[in-house]
Amino acid sequence: MSSPGAQGPVAGDPNRENDVRDMFDRIAPTYVKANAMLSMGVDKLWRKRGMEALGDCVKGPMLDLCAGTMDLSLALHDAGCPEIVAYDFSANMLEVGKTRLPAGANVTAIVGDAQSLPWQEPRFTGAVAAFGLRNVPDNRKALSELYRVLQPGGRAVILEFFQPIRVDARVFHSVFNKVVLPTVGGWISGDSQAYGYLADSMQAYMPRTEFQDIAQEVGFTLRIGRELLPPVASLVCLEKPKHTEGAAP
Ligand SMILES: C[S@@+](CC[C@H](N)C(=O)[O-])C[C@H]1O[C@@H](n2cnc3c(N)ncnc32)[C@H](O)[C@@H]1O
Repeated sequence: MSSPGAQGPVAGDPNRENDVRDMFDRIAPTYVKANAMLSMGVDKLWRKRGMEALGDCVKGPMLDLCAGTMDLSLALHDAGCPEIVAYDFSANMLEVGKTRLPAGANVTAIVGDAQSLPWQEPRFTGAVAAFGLRNVPDNRKALSELYRVLQPGGRAVILEFFQPIRVDARVFHSVFNKVVLPTVGGWISGDSQAYGYLADSMQAYMPRTEFQDIAQEVGFTLRIGRELLPPVASLVCLEKPKHTEGAAP
């Protein structure tokens, strides 16, 4: 495993993707604990809202994109989903996730890049992507790939920290990102550089409306796009139309 340069991952740097992956590989052992402390459990509520938006999709094969330590794979398992693929480019995050699964859980872990998915055919009835896409350099490519592997009528639920529009959310975001995240995350993981990067990635990400525009340009229909409470995270629920152009109705 190589380590990032002294500055950590830098936007526009051609090595950024490898640096981001190495960073997640490094913080994997402490990620679950840091996440629980930093979110004070609120992320559980956000994930619950995300699961609710999936509807009946969970009755078929589901993709957990940027699955990390598999919180949503676990939620999908608990919801009775018959087949789950946890996909992430950090092997270490997935290894930690595997240790959290109950015996017999139907979750397959696959290491790979969200911008290039390994399935040729529409394979999934639905997908989730929680707090991962802002790290992916080309969101249009990742969304196109997601669209390609979903069956018609399939839903994709994205939970993410988009650039906030409301003033109160901007202030909260700023204080959290500049002070709380690097301090608390750095303290728990022993890697303040990594949590400094995560804070920067939140500050630098696009607004939700821009993300929704890209998703619609690649073919998705927007079902839900809204802020969650507290208004720092957002939920976007997309659907691949049942009848795509050229397909028989
Ligand atoms: C902040 S963690 C979130 C993990 C998990 N979904 C959760 O909600 O806790 C972001 C995850 O996205 C993964 N990731 C970032 N860029 C990726 C890419 N280009 N392809 C695949 N996974 C990626 C990271 O390895 C990391 O596990």
